[in-house]
Amino acid sequence: MEDIDAIEQLPGVGPATAEKLIDAGFTDLMSIAVSSPQMLAEMADIGVNSAVKIIAAARKQADIGGFETGDVIMEKRKLVGKVTTGSEALDELMGGGFETQAITELFGEFGSGKTQIGHQIAVNTTKPVEDGGLDATVIFIDTENTFRPERIIQMSEGQGLDPAEVLSKIRVARAFNSHHQMLLAEKAQGVAKEHGVRCLVVDSLTAHFRAEYVGRGALADRQQKLNKHMHDLIRFSDLFNAMVIVTNQVMSKPDAFFGDPTRPIGGHIVGHAATFRIYLRKSKGQKRIARLIDSPNLPEGEAVFSVVEEGVID
Ligand code: GTP
Ligand code: MG
Repeated sequence: MEDIDAIEQLPGVGPATAEKLIDAGFTDLMSIAVSSPQMLAEMADIGVNSAVKIIAAARKQADIGGFETGDVIMEKRKLVGKVTTGSEALDELMGGGFETQAITELFGEFGSGKTQIGHQIAVNTTKPVEDGGLDATVIFIDTENTFRPERIIQMSEGQGLDPAEVLSKIRVARAFNSHHQMLLAEKAQGVAKEHGVRCLVVDSLTAHFRAEYVGRGALADRQQKLNKHMHDLIRFSDLFNAMVIVTNQVMSKPDAFFGDPTRPIGGHIVGHAATFRIYLRKSKGQKRIARLIDSPNLPEGEAVFSVVEEGVID
């Protein structure tokens, strides 16, 4: 509430503009302060000149944070943990595995392997560090009721791990709607403090949002909620030096707003929040192709992997 009051009190922001900003997902001063005028104008449907003024005012009030020297950032980067995917090709594409302090988005059509990779990373996170894991606990937020302990058992056996032990290190919560999903993501922080969690899987990130917010009129509201959810997930990855893995379907039919049928749901809210975006597609039989689309420090590229009974392999 304080945040919303602060937005309403920005010079040049009347009640109508405040409502547009909040609807577009700009629910605190920081999100406005760090926005570009073009992005703010487009998303909140206001003029660019107004956007420039609003951003300037928000920057004065928000604590944008100090500057850290490169070596301090490098120290933090040194703490990044990596988890093997089970496929050497996919690990190589990702610079040695999936990273902590990052959000990795897996997007692709049904059956492309998003849930399978989510399960495999959950299993592998429990492995000792020397075997490509983080010797840590996992939280799995399951929105589509597709978490299968049977798959965890098969994948654990595939890795020579004790399935019972692995299962005991994966904490699963079923999210019944988007609101519930958001609450679980907040609650995950408490669980992480207690249990040494280094991996949070949200499978699917967008399905509930897509089903509940239908039509163009609901879009702003949906994006605002998704924006908040993504920020909670980023905070989680930061606080616990954890990897956050989210899955996202691509639109099978042209979307009224985004148009392009291969665009992932959630548009630029999800895209900007994700550190790595991997586009998955089906190939022959068990083969799947992963394409790294967006990464701060790795070249774009593709890797071929397979999904078999033992899990994800080359
Ligand atoms: P949606 O959630 O529907 O969007 O799809 P997804 O991308 O999550 O697909 P998922 O990861 O569930 O992949 C399903 C595919 O994995 C199946 O079509 C199978 O090809 C493969 N798969 C799942 N379980 C097994 C298994 O036990 N053995 C083998 N060999 N393949 C499996
Ligand atoms: Mg799935």
